[in-house]
Amino acid sequence: MSEKWIPRKVVIVGAGAVGATFAYALALSGVADEIVLLDLDRNLAQGQILDLAHGLPFYPNVQFKVGDASDYANAHIIVITAGARQRPGETRLALLQRNAQIIERLMDEIAAQGSQAVVLMVSNPVDVLTYVAQRRVNWPRGRVIGSGTVLDSSRFRYLLSQHCGVDVHNIHAYILGEHGDSEFAAWSMTHLAGIHFDEYCQVCQGCEDWEAAKQEIVAEVRNSAYHIIDYKGATNFGVGQALLRITSAIIRNEKSVLTVSTLLEGEYGLRDVCLGIPAVVGQGGVELILDAVLPPDEQAALEHSAAVLREAIQHLPLAD
Ligand SMILES: NC(=O)c1ccc[n+]([C@@H]2O[C@H](COP(=O)([O-])OP(=O)(O)OC[C@H]3O[C@@H](n4cnc5c(N)ncnc54)[C@H](O)[C@@H]3O)[C@@H](O)[C@H]2O)c1
Repeated sequence: MSEKWIPRKVVIVGAGAVGATFAYALALSGVADEIVLLDLDRNLAQGQILDLAHGLPFYPNVQFKVGDASDYANAHIIVITAGARQRPGETRLALLQRNAQIIERLMDEIAAQGSQAVVLMVSNPVDVLTYVAQRRVNWPRGRVIGSGTVLDSSRFRYLLSQHCGVDVHNIHAYILGEHGDSEFAAWSMTHLAGIHFDEYCQVCQGCEDWEAAKQEIVAEVRNSAYHIIDYKGATNFGVGQALLRITSAIIRNEKSVLTVSTLLEGEYGLRDVCLGIPAVVGQGGVELILDAVLPPDEQAALEHSAAVLREAIQHLPLAD
């Protein structure tokens, strides 16, 4: 007799711009067998599912449905894109506190279902909310991770490839730290076909002032989300692909190195904070943190990012 078939099930909480775009990217990829959407606004989830389902003849085989909390029980991955929007006059801190409460409630519901899923946090501020989620359930740290700086690293690779005129797939480049204003480029880990960029620049000789170009590229990475939001109100396609990349690494146990947000317990000399660092991602979520030795300027930048995040965490009324 054949063994019981276990569908690869991805539950997406939050059916807004990010959740729906990720669901679409995931359906096109064929990586999941079942895609479940949940939203406080059930009509929105229903509408997105109907719309997605009308493409069924054209995707690799997949099932869609609007879900509820019982779907957490047998999910492989739960991707949280749920978030409250800023109310008129509301401070960023008040919004953060509201979102932290939403995440705590969701994690309680997930834990109550006895879920063995990997939880992937996307809602912003993603590093703080990853910390909130991890602290609420106290699971092995690799099972509660954030999208971290995976999107920022992909923006960095794109901009480097544009600048250098080289295929983006030949560029390995990492943005580390907070997914936000204190993030920084780990130039010590950034290379083109194994050649560090400063050395490549001497081979290429294609730009007049590489040091100025470096600064412009990093500033552009940091400001990308602001620019896109100014143009169209939200970012969704790039992040949708970044989430697909992380989800694929988990579902297919790829052991991919991705700069996800994860709880540090002494790595890089830091603890009790979640931020984006290179980690091996497989079926268990984060399976190994690559605890590299950074040059002093990058180590200082990482510590600064950690300080910024700790400051935000301090303002949250987290239960002990
Ligand atoms: N980490 C990243 O790289 C990254 C990139 C882009 C956006 N984001 C973040 O992703 C989040 C979602 O962005 P968006 O543009 O899709 O926002 P959105 O407002 O379009 O969607 C959010 C959805 O969450 C739902 N929601 C709120 N509370 C809920 C709850 N308790 N349970 C279920 N659903 C709930 C809302 O009804 C809404 O449909 C935001 O926090 C945004 O800042 C993160």
